[in-house]
Amino acid sequence: MSRERWNAVDAYTAELLIGADEALDHAVRSSAEAGLPPIAVSPNQGKLLYLLARMHGASSVLELGTLGGYSTIWLARALAHSGRLVTVELDPAYAEVAAANIQRAGLSSVVEQRVGPALDELLRLQAGGAGPFDMTFIDADKKGTPEYFEAALELSRPGSLIITDNVVRDGALIDPDTQDPGVLGMRRFQELLGADRRAGGRVSATTIQTVGSKGYDGFTLALVGG
Ligand SMILES: C[S@@+](CC[C@H](N)C(=O)[O-])C[C@H]1O[C@@H](n2cnc3c(N)ncnc32)[C@H](O)[C@@H]1O
Repeated sequence: MSRERWNAVDAYTAELLIGADEALDHAVRSSAEAGLPPIAVSPNQGKLLYLLARMHGASSVLELGTLGGYSTIWLARALAHSGRLVTVELDPAYAEVAAANIQRAGLSSVVEQRVGPALDELLRLQAGGAGPFDMTFIDADKKGTPEYFEAALELSRPGSLIITDNVVRDGALIDPDTQDPGVLGMRRFQELLGADRRAGGRVSATTIQTVGSKGYDGFTLALVGG
């Protein structure tokens, strides 16, 4: 099955089930015009995040990796009344693009942007007594994922949901010879989850492979508190 086929199926279903969306479409366009890499979640994946947040009744969400704010907008729209979303981005220029997109989407009062390395910001959030967050979306640099997950756990409560993107990496996840730091990060992450399960399980987790316009990759979903 070809990548063109995955793209075509994503386009077909996104047109029917999502359609045009001024704020989201603008976020994609303005991010491209500003030279941001095209690595946001796809529309179908963004809507999955939105639906998961809604099903979960989330009113507080933590996101690592803002980029141009595309997934931020999806998640912020899902929040229950008087909800709050904190999103962290390393690159100040990306955060500026995101700020404009979030404002255009009418979500500035809901979203708090933080600029800096994810781990520093996570520790700052912990020190400031933030959380617990109902849901965390981990989508920053891939090599730091295990550390981000541990820190996100500290900012969670029993019943919180932690979603991590890009865990399968074209199947390289199971390549024993990989030297790719991002893939190695994801292997450490899966192994951390395996060790956690064998030790009784602070979380109950599963990893789902996906194909589509973002290629072949996957998400890990972890429910805190077993
Ligand atoms: C895959 S993109 C995020 C995409 C975004 N969640 C979306 O779907 O619209 C990853 C982002 O993480 C940021 N990033 C990379 N290293 C980081 C770090 N150490 N701390 C925080 N953000 C980081 C990158 O600059 C990039 O914007």
